[in-house]
Amino acid sequence: MKFLKDLSKKEIAGKTCLLRIDLNIAEKEARNSSRILGILPTIKFLTDNGAKVVILSHRGRPKPVKWANSKSKILNSKEFSLKPFVKILSKLLNKQIKFVDFNKNWKEIAATINGSKNNIFLLENLRFLVGEEKNNPKLAKQLANLGDMYVNDAFAVSHRANASVEAITKFLPSCAGFLLEREIKNLSAMMKPKKPLVIILGGAKISDKIGLIENFIERADYFLIGGGIAHNFLLAQGLPIGDSIFEEKTVEFAKKILNNKKVILPVDYKIKNRKILDIGPNTISLYENIIKKAKTIIWNGPMGYFENPKFAKGSEGIVKAIINNKKAFSIIGGGETTSLLRSAQINADKNADKRRYPRLFISTGGGAMLEYLAGKKLPGIKALE
Ligand code: 3PG
Repeated sequence: MKFLKDLSKKEIAGKTCLLRIDLNIAEKEARNSSRILGILPTIKFLTDNGAKVVILSHRGRPKPVKWANSKSKILNSKEFSLKPFVKILSKLLNKQIKFVDFNKNWKEIAATINGSKNNIFLLENLRFLVGEEKNNPKLAKQLANLGDMYVNDAFAVSHRANASVEAITKFLPSCAGFLLEREIKNLSAMMKPKKPLVIILGGAKISDKIGLIENFIERADYFLIGGGIAHNFLLAQGLPIGDSIFEEKTVEFAKKILNNKKVILPVDYKIKNRKILDIGPNTISLYENIIKKAKTIIWNGPMGYFENPKFAKGSEGIVKAIINNKKAFSIIGGGETTSLLRSAQINADKNADKRRYPRLFISTGGGAMLEYLAGKKLPGIKALE
């Protein structure tokens, strides 16, 4: 695989680089989002070395229209537009960014980019176009025609075979950006972890974590279970869960691994209105004691309904235990987990803003991280190999 860091100035200067990033984030969280902060060095590197940068991204799951330049309302939809990110990125980079929408045809789009004095452009949400999620080679070629080289720095969407992630690499010299390189380096290190390896799993769904559990069932020493997925294990034991969330189809999977000694379930819960909303204090100390001994930690998914501070204690306890373990290397991923991390980290460590945590890697991937750790080849990464 080619990495951006290995390219010489000569290979970059004067080129127009199509840079795929993942701006699938809430606007209010954007300024602190590792997805945005993580791609700034790549943009700076490219522009410092004399390239024009055309940023490509998707946002949300809009219903696509057929082609650019159509009259569809979706092309101007505020909810999914990437336009607000012009201001956010400009501020962070201290550079002007020109927004390019799809109310033009491809020739006009190319003319806008080639004719402008700007050197950073942000293209409108690619999922407005019907070919993006279908990995359509025609769309990939149209995008490729806008530039001379392609950089993938969108780990979070690299598990999707999309036109701007996979098919585009067939038409341009392509490489991995700094963010993608960091993700690959840190996540691949998990395949040969220092032991004990403790995997903490929470969140609403167990189905998207089955692959990871199966891939690590031999390698891991403990799976600490919390959040909605713990309810599936309660059901598997024939215990009542009141009105708590659960996933019907995966109770069988829970039954299969229930008696594995590595799988540790909560011993108490916080309950309100017949709903389990957090793990209880005894579970927090049980989990803290296990995390204390870990040399490697993987965490995905909150332990409870952390949006309400009354039910954030479980997740905060996990953050605290991870921060206090100075020997372990930890990887944390998933949209919810990383957004709770910041607030919980600040509660757990009053100097969190000033301190750095070199032994903590925050993955920008949600589904992408889970699929990578499940041992799957991600199409966006495979395409660069
Ligand atoms: C994400 O946020 O996980 C990525 O941007 C992928 O989004 P998707 O699940 O809508 O493909």
